[in-house]
Amino acid sequence: MTKKRILFTGGSGKAGKHVVPYLLDQGHTVLNVDLTPLTHPGVNNLIADITDSGQVFNAMTSYASLDELDLGQGVPKFDAVVHFAAVPRILLKPDNETFRVNTIGTYNVIEAAVKLGINKIVIASSETTYGICFSYGQTSPHVLPLEEDYDVDPMDSYGLSKVVNEKTARSFQRRSGIDIYALRIGNVIEPHEYAELFPHYFAHPDVRRRNVFCYIDARDLGQIVDLCLQKDGLGYQVFNAGNDHNGAIIPSQELASRFFPGVPITRELGEHEALFSNRKIREVLGFREQHNWRQYVNEES
Ligand SMILES: NC(=O)c1ccc[n+]([C@@H]2O[C@H](COP(=O)([O-])OP(=O)(O)OC[C@H]3O[C@@H](n4cnc5c(N)ncnc54)[C@H](O)[C@@H]3O)[C@@H](O)[C@H]2O)c1
Repeated sequence: MTKKRILFTGGSGKAGKHVVPYLLDQGHTVLNVDLTPLTHPGVNNLIADITDSGQVFNAMTSYASLDELDLGQGVPKFDAVVHFAAVPRILLKPDNETFRVNTIGTYNVIEAAVKLGINKIVIASSETTYGICFSYGQTSPHVLPLEEDYDVDPMDSYGLSKVVNEKTARSFQRRSGIDIYALRIGNVIEPHEYAELFPHYFAHPDVRRRNVFCYIDARDLGQIVDLCLQKDGLGYQVFNAGNDHNGAIIPSQELASRFFPGVPITRELGEHEALFSNRKIREVLGFREQHNWRQYVNEES
């Protein structure tokens, strides 16, 4: 496995604070670029705003730590950029600000990486691109399971910003020929959240309808990002980043018929196979989940 020098944006957030330690554990070096630092042994932090292109270019041509000064060979080049920084949903900031930060920020990060010759970029897209999560009123998908070739059609500013970001990534990939992989990340679950949240989800499954019952363990997300860093030569790719099963105790066929009646199911599903499919990351990247919810919470609780 190749150890890489990685610039990671948004590493101080809910997902990043688990993904960055996972990458450090694999032996990578990480510079976290965020508005706030991540306090974790071995993490180097640089406070910068991704909506300012000058700061992004500057961060990407920066030393990652004081230790690197000793090398005496100038600033080493980053091997990869992982871009997580964002306003992570609607109704935190005004809609136009969510759209601005997410789209301009992503443009700035990808543009700087491409122009500086960094040839691997992984960006955080979202399950919300599928248009169910933040839709106005209750809507259903066109088909199930949700797979990467779906015609994404969100109504909201956040989901739309992520669709735009995927287009930005595709455009820069086409002009540069490098690898840019967009992860449509499912609902991120931190280790302590299984006990806190899942019993309520099981008692009231309707609260998970907007997420199409998906979840991604934050540590398994670390594995997915690392697999993206290791797998070269795929050009522009979109991957759903979710766990193998639904975050529900009801079997998949029943979940679909109860909560999405009349929606065509395009292939046979395993008993609990996620309606937000992770088949592509398993088949293309070799993802093997380490953290199924059943390891952390009892169905009867
Ligand atoms: N949490 C989820 O369930 C989920 C699901 C799907 C996709 N995502 C995506 O995954 C990524 C990480 O999500 P999260 O839940 O960790 O979000 P978060 O809000 O917890 O973390 C985002 C980080 O980005 C930083 N940031 C925001 N604006 C910035 C700016 N202008 N410049 C520099 N840093 C900035 C914040 O300080 C924060 O540390 C985001 O892109 C989000 O849209 C999250």
